[in-house]
Amino acid sequence: MKIAILTGGGDCPGLNGAVKWVTKTALDPYLAKKRSSDFEIIGVLQGWKGLTEVDPDDPESCARNLRHLDEETVRAWDRYGGTNLGTSRTNPFNPKNDRSRKLIQNIEKLGIDVVVAIGGEDTLGVANNLYKCGIKTVGIPKTIDGDLLGTDYSLGFDSAVNIITEEIDRLRTTAGSHGRIFVVETMGRHAGWLSLYGGESSGAYIILIPEHPFSIERVCELLQERGGREIQYSIIVVSEGAKQEGLQEFVKDKKVDDFGHTSLGGIAAHIADEIAKRTGFEARYVILSHLQRGGVPSARDRLMARRFGIAAVDMILNGDFGRMVSLTHGEITSVPLAKAVDKLRLVDIEKFYDTERYNGKRSIL
Ligand code: F6P
Repeated sequence: MKIAILTGGGDCPGLNGAVKWVTKTALDPYLAKKRSSDFEIIGVLQGWKGLTEVDPDDPESCARNLRHLDEETVRAWDRYGGTNLGTSRTNPFNPKNDRSRKLIQNIEKLGIDVVVAIGGEDTLGVANNLYKCGIKTVGIPKTIDGDLLGTDYSLGFDSAVNIITEEIDRLRTTAGSHGRIFVVETMGRHAGWLSLYGGESSGAYIILIPEHPFSIERVCELLQERGGREIQYSIIVVSEGAKQEGLQEFVKDKKVDDFGHTSLGGIAAHIADEIAKRTGFEARYVILSHLQRGGVPSARDRLMARRFGIAAVDMILNGDFGRMVSLTHGEITSVPLAKAVDKLRLVDIEKFYDTERYNGKRSIL
């Protein structure tokens, strides 16, 4: 059985580990003895781009877009961040440039039996569309945003929260030395999980998330409430997709990617500027940007990469296609891809967010 595996969308720590564990589990000599079919693993370079653009009849094109994977090749991959297969934001089903027929023909010509896609709602949306076209697909959840429905965990999220926490710890010394307000912008697009968890774990004073538009006057009030106290600095964490009441989200430019996403960014500078103007406090801002996706995987991401990779192979053996591996209430299971890609998993304000103090809830009463 020939498995093609690919990583799509924003990169993050944990991707290499998932590729490694799919490969190791599929080729495991102990497990092979108990199986009726052998596996061959093909790594696809640059996500759906590689599988769409490869010319199966051209050996050079195959060498440019595909990699034969075996246990020796992937042996150490789980220790390194990013994705050794490369990634892209290519959407073969983009109505403006639909290349899905070419993609399906390539899969058939290459003799691929199953495609394992590791990604977020965009990458797995393509896997779901392929499944609806009769291709056997399995998804592994990955996004630092934590916004995939159908799973309590997506690869990359824990490593990103650790980075946010470490960077805010670092900022505290300089904020304290100068008595400044620091506004820290996180990624997360339209879900506030990274800001919420990163802000709570680093003890931020104010956390602003896309799910609850904020009043800049209220932000200033909260800062002034603290003004007289001995601590003369504050940390504010804000999601790149957060919105000030009456304003739209801040975008870097008008460009959209193959899935229709704009590049968000700039709200932290706006908030710092407003605070300085309205309160007289010194304010600075930091955009953590792609630092949140860099570096080596946390222990949790290494563990989840292993669990998800093993589960993906079990799903193939069980014939569970058109489904995504899922961590649900602490158990490894699977859900239909259609459920995972239908809409985003957003922060439940009622359950997790204090709309008066702009921070995580302190009591569930
Ligand atoms: O989807 C993950 C993500 O990191 C978002 O949080 C962020 O807005 C986006 O990717 C950045 O995309 P790119 O790396 O293509 O600039």
